[in-house]
Amino acid sequence: MNEQTPRSTRLQADTRRLLDRIQALGQVGALDGGGVCRLALTDQDREGRDLVHSWMRDLGLAARIDQIGNVVGIRQGLEDGPPVMIGSHIDSVATGGLYDGTLGVLAGLEAVHTLNDAGITTRHPVAVGFFTNEEGARFAPDMMGSAVHQGSLPLAEALETVGTDGQSVGSELNRIGYSGDVPVNDVVPRAYLELHIEQGPVLEESGTTIGVVTGVQGISWTEYQIKGVSNHAGTTPMRLRHDAGLVASAISVEARAIATEFGGHQVATVGVTELGPNLVNVIANRARVTVDLRNTSESDLSRAESRMANFVAETSASEGVEMQQRSLARFSPVEFDPKITDLIEAVAGDCGYSCQRLPSGAGHDAQMFAPNCPTGMIFVPSQGGISHNVTEFTSQEDIAAGMNVLMQVLTELSG
Ligand code: GLV
Ligand code: MN
Ligand code: MN
Repeated sequence: MNEQTPRSTRLQADTRRLLDRIQALGQVGALDGGGVCRLALTDQDREGRDLVHSWMRDLGLAARIDQIGNVVGIRQGLEDGPPVMIGSHIDSVATGGLYDGTLGVLAGLEAVHTLNDAGITTRHPVAVGFFTNEEGARFAPDMMGSAVHQGSLPLAEALETVGTDGQSVGSELNRIGYSGDVPVNDVVPRAYLELHIEQGPVLEESGTTIGVVTGVQGISWTEYQIKGVSNHAGTTPMRLRHDAGLVASAISVEARAIATEFGGHQVATVGVTELGPNLVNVIANRARVTVDLRNTSESDLSRAESRMANFVAETSASEGVEMQQRSLARFSPVEFDPKITDLIEAVAGDCGYSCQRLPSGAGHDAQMFAPNCPTGMIFVPSQGGISHNVTEFTSQEDIAAGMNVLMQVLTELSG
């Protein structure tokens, strides 16, 4: 980090150009009534990748596609060596907004565009990357591409992963033409930065413009498959039932009870409940339920996991149903590098923006880089704290502020 660089010689990024790219990418996989559906490795994801890849080439970046489909564009520096990387994702959940992930990637491109316009060559190379399947909505776990990139998930395991529609990551990468030949750990950055919408209510509620992200909470995803017995809803006495639906519902109620009783940063979500045969007058003989538990404390997260696992085992036994459980994702909490968080805070203050430190509730590619290189994240407010929803929105003013902070932090780190 170069403490001597005067912040008075600030480079001004063009927020209008950044917003135009966000809107253009928002047309890819656009949903009626707003928002996007670009589930990882679908045709819509491919179209989005093609567009961002073409923008990388237009900006003169040498874009490389690795074996898990991550795309990293590199801008040479005066010196060789590891780049300062700006990254995020362009896949979305099925009901995604325009900003989740795309802001970070396109802000990286805007930073490169600004450097190009100013004719500046930084001392260290600058890289802009988008990582495969950050969302995990089609293939679990989430942050798949960055986890493979940073060596915490084996490539072969990721490629064999089968998604919610029965297709594998490897075959879908081949199908959309993004199975690259660059080794997955090809680029180990000098530092990693990610600008992201907060996706929660904290900044808006406190009237703060810039969030200095201290780390990312731990994430645990578990899938429960319950096998009961179907029978007639009118004739089967309650004492003779083996109802998979009852266990599924009890899991939902227990998730809320765990979050309420633990308090603090504990959150718990049952996002999927599928029942079969799903008929009004038939007792459910099967259920698939997912549980998402998160906490900033590893020990509290483990305690929440054990309590849920014991509850599901006991409830299944007393209802006389079979139960199988499978871990879909498990990430420990991470702390970001204090030198980077301090720098982000100092730059935000110098630019005259209000700022506040906070942990991230959502998962991010940055958490995969944090153990291996100095890493930091900048948050901007989400209107109404809404995300993973087509109405997700961040104002132009807040995007401009986040972009400015990213630009200054990048120029300091890349020299
Ligand atoms: C991924 O974005 C998650 O936090 O679930
Ligand atoms: Mn995201
Ligand atoms: Mn997301």
